[in-house]
Amino acid sequence: MDKLVIEGGIPLQGEVAVSGSKNAALPALAACLLTSDRVILNRIPQVRDIGTMLGLVRHIGAEVSVKGDRVTIRAANLEHPEAPYELVKTMRASSLVLGPLVGRCGRARVSLPGGCAIGARPINLHVSGLERLGAEVRQEHGYIEANASNGLQGANVQFDRISVTGTEDLLMAAVLARGETVIGNAAREPEVADLAALLTAMGAKIEGAGTSTIRVQGVAKLGGAEHTIIPDRIETGTFLIGGALTAGDLTVRGCVPEHLRALIAKLQQAGVEVTEPSPDTLRVRVPGRLKNVDITTEEHPGFATDLQAQFMALMTQAAGISFVTETIFENRFMHAQELARMGANIRLEGRQAIVAGPTPLSGAQVIASDLRASASLVLAGLAARGETVIDRVYHIDRGYEKIESKLAGVGARIRRIE
Ligand code: EPU
Repeated sequence: MDKLVIEGGIPLQGEVAVSGSKNAALPALAACLLTSDRVILNRIPQVRDIGTMLGLVRHIGAEVSVKGDRVTIRAANLEHPEAPYELVKTMRASSLVLGPLVGRCGRARVSLPGGCAIGARPINLHVSGLERLGAEVRQEHGYIEANASNGLQGANVQFDRISVTGTEDLLMAAVLARGETVIGNAAREPEVADLAALLTAMGAKIEGAGTSTIRVQGVAKLGGAEHTIIPDRIETGTFLIGGALTAGDLTVRGCVPEHLRALIAKLQQAGVEVTEPSPDTLRVRVPGRLKNVDITTEEHPGFATDLQAQFMALMTQAAGISFVTETIFENRFMHAQELARMGANIRLEGRQAIVAGPTPLSGAQVIASDLRASASLVLAGLAARGETVIDRVYHIDRGYEKIESKLAGVGARIRRIE
């Protein structure tokens, strides 16, 4: 199993470019199943979760060709409208094929996800949304089986709680349903708006994506399109926090600052200077000591849960007590114990982590438990004295493209060993 070895204590300096958004690319690949025409997607990041999703759309019957960050998909025949357990267990976002398959084929069979490192993560909201559109859903042998042999019928769907992939799944089902669908309490994440932009280019009629009410007028058929995925805001945020944590001077190029307002505000409160040298560039510098800041994760446009672990690493170097409250997932603090092994002073109380800083970080052997937890350990390793060895880096490879070469390009001493 691969490990990352980091020689810490070097400020990140220079310029790093952001890849396409993993969490926008995943539903975009699922959306290609909605048409028999060719769809071209640009700026698809080369990360493991994307490889898993490409394997899934191939399994379902689509032809896939990949050239660099450009993926072409033609889903003429969908021979196996199903997501098998082997794929869903490695990537829960596989359930994103449920909506498009029921919409296009009138049936789908998708494995239930089962346990997850960061929390329960059920898909009941996806299922009840589809039922509102007229699908008959059964659960058997660990699979969800959905049928809508006469097609889906538009309806009002009010989500009990906000779900990003739940909103995306339902949106993809609704575009081919008869009549109007209104999705209330919809996720407002930029990835939802990006999916709607792709679907609109394919011929769908959607209003309000990016707000909490989305209206869809169903159409009989969708066609081919070409679309460029938005930049990855979580990768951007991870680099910005890394620049701040190592007291560097880091410029992140090719990003959308608008998608990162909550993080930028918290960085500024913490004493980090954040500037926008150009409309798609953010730069961080640390003029003085870092100050303690409290964060509470929320749905967009609040502070992203996917940046909580990295921000906690930053707060270990801030003067004073910071409260980090996680409201989206019930078990997303596994990095805290590992950060503590590197010298952090963190106490966990239910959904809150209390970080007392600053405490010097020293390199240690640590284990990555999930994607964003591993990112926080990498950042801590970059700031720590001495050598950090991070085990189970396959977690980081799920969502960060060329992480070690990107970081090495801005001065980090980081290498991968077998
Ligand atoms: N939830 C339910 N029922 C459902 C769906 C969700 O109770 O049917 C709960 C979840 O258990 C969770 C909350 O609702 O407590 C929010 O979950 P959501 O459905 O929004 O999460 P997701 O769609 O499964 C996406 C991202 C995650 C990100 C979350 C929250 C993708 C592929 N994944 O997951 O990304 O943390 O939204 O913003 O878009 C990551 O990239 O590291 C990652 C985990």
